[in-house]
Amino acid sequence: MARHKGLVLAGGSGTRLYPITMGLSKQLIPVYDKPMIYYPISVLMLADIREIAIITTPEDQAQFRRALGDGSQWGLQFTFIEQPAPEGLAQAYLLAESFLAGAPSVMVLGDNIFFGHGLPELLAQATAREQGGTVFGYRVADAERYGVVDFDAAGQARSIVEKPSHPPSPFAVTGLYVLDGTAPRRARDVRPSPRGELEITDLLQMYLDEGSLQVQRMGRGYAWLDTGTHASLLDAGNFVRTLTERQGQQVGCPEEIAWHKGWIDACALRARAERFRKNDYGVYLRGLLGEDADSG
Ligand code: TTP
Repeated sequence: MARHKGLVLAGGSGTRLYPITMGLSKQLIPVYDKPMIYYPISVLMLADIREIAIITTPEDQAQFRRALGDGSQWGLQFTFIEQPAPEGLAQAYLLAESFLAGAPSVMVLGDNIFFGHGLPELLAQATAREQGGTVFGYRVADAERYGVVDFDAAGQARSIVEKPSHPPSPFAVTGLYVLDGTAPRRARDVRPSPRGELEITDLLQMYLDEGSLQVQRMGRGYAWLDTGTHASLLDAGNFVRTLTERQGQQVGCPEEIAWHKGWIDACALRARAERFRKNDYGVYLRGLLGEDADSG
């Protein structure tokens, strides 16, 4: 099992998804057949992480607790942490300092969806590193919307530029950050940017300056989906639906990962299947047990 602890950053204001997110946190709205946050949680599980802090706004925490419980249904242990105001991604490390207690971490943004063969291996390589950090560069057509990697002539990352009007490369930094146990200490030295946020790019730059940040390219065989706008949310839902129906396999199903890893037993999986028996998700869980929906 990984030494790493997991963080899911699920606060923020979600203003681009108004009016949907006026009464409901963005990370709880559906991406096809399950709440958005199931996908990032699944990524942490694929990284072998079982201790996870869910960081939310104070107002939304009760709903996250209701939707996710304590994690035991998936063999996990959830801790809920409040972020009083959306003051930036790097603030997560300050808020989670006592939860992390010096441990290295994998942080994933609660509205990011990753899919691709080889994701567990990619994560395992990153968590195998003892010191420093790893982030993932992904080629996008609209890099100006993201933190973008500036590579030197030798192909080494030298800086990450936040939302540049002229992107130095097409490689955006995805919302998945594998950092060693020094992240909270370093985050204390990050000062608010002109937009008033503790920028993750500033924290990453500290690692880069020391030569301890690896920017791993996540190749074209992976999907990294954004869900922050109405259109991208619908596209992500359609992507998940297409894969699910075509392959007859779930995308981002925490029960399935927990079952395969041996973190839950048949009794626990059956209980979940029973709860969802009226839909395809429940039928799928029942299928994992090798039982069809009408038996047992
Ligand atoms: P963003 O997409 O940058 O912001 P947002 O979710 O607040 O949405 P909008 O731009 O529509 O107002 O955030 C990326 C992810 O990080 C998202 O899952 C929310 C989360 N987040 C926090 O939890 N805390 C923060 O302080 C910030 C800035 C973002």
